[in-house]
Amino acid sequence: MLVIDDVTAGYGDFTALRNASIEVKAGEAVAVIGPNGAGKSTLMRAISGMIPLKGGTITMEGQSISSIPAHKIVETGIAHVPENRRLFARMSVEENLRVGCYAKPFRAAFDKRLEFVYELFPRMKERRNQLAGTMSGGEQQMCAIGRALMSDPKILLMDEPSAGLAPVIVQQVFELIRRIRAEGLTVLIVEQNVQQVLKVVDRAYLLEAGTIRHSGSSAELLGSEDIRKAYIGV
Ligand SMILES: Nc1ncnc2c1ncn2[C@@H]1O[C@H](COP(=O)(O)OP(=O)(O)OP(=O)(O)O)[C@@H](O)[C@H]1O
Ligand SMILES: [Mg+2]
Repeated sequence: MLVIDDVTAGYGDFTALRNASIEVKAGEAVAVIGPNGAGKSTLMRAISGMIPLKGGTITMEGQSISSIPAHKIVETGIAHVPENRRLFARMSVEENLRVGCYAKPFRAAFDKRLEFVYELFPRMKERRNQLAGTMSGGEQQMCAIGRALMSDPKILLMDEPSAGLAPVIVQQVFELIRRIRAEGLTVLIVEQNVQQVLKVVDRAYLLEAGTIRHSGSSAELLGSEDIRKAYIGV
């Protein structure tokens, strides 16, 4: 479904991601793990057109998206839940959800998608008039995921959805990811919570200092002593 082929990207003269190749097949959930500053968010930004590629290509369902501007990427079926959620704090939950459906081809489906998101997250329905910035961290994450789901994406990119949340809420976020998968969505997720994310994805890539160092099935990575030592701490 999504093929990242030999992609190099960065900021100005700085290269944050070097010759990265990643593939996500339809229906799969794939994780990208790696230390702080490895280039994980850069990869997500490159896919969603927020930063230009310096090399390589990205294709979605066979169509090159390497030069599609960020606001048009969503029309290819990709939705991005960015790092730190990036909600509009002074807008209500429902107004934030509306933003996810803003692109012209999606507007007509707003009511239907809203119903879907409220069914998935009843808490959001309850809080639909609350200002997003006044919600708890876990609620804000639900809102950010809900906003991404408003465009009825084929693939959801999630950048550290569990960051900054209390352990019990982290569990809920991973439960949400399971439910999103059960809805048939394809998922590409960046997580620091390596042990937990490997339990909900099929495969993972290890990114270090801008380079893909390793990839394998979740079972293989969970069984790797090097990865356990470096990222799981047991
Ligand atoms: N806007 C920017 N301008 C300049 N350098 C940047 C910018 N954004 C990120 N970088 C640099 O690019 C490198 C990769 O950053 P990136 O955000 O992709 O890391 P990450 O793997 O997501 O890390 P974290 O786990 O801390 O979120 C880092 O060295 C970072 O300082
Ligand atoms: Mg990041």
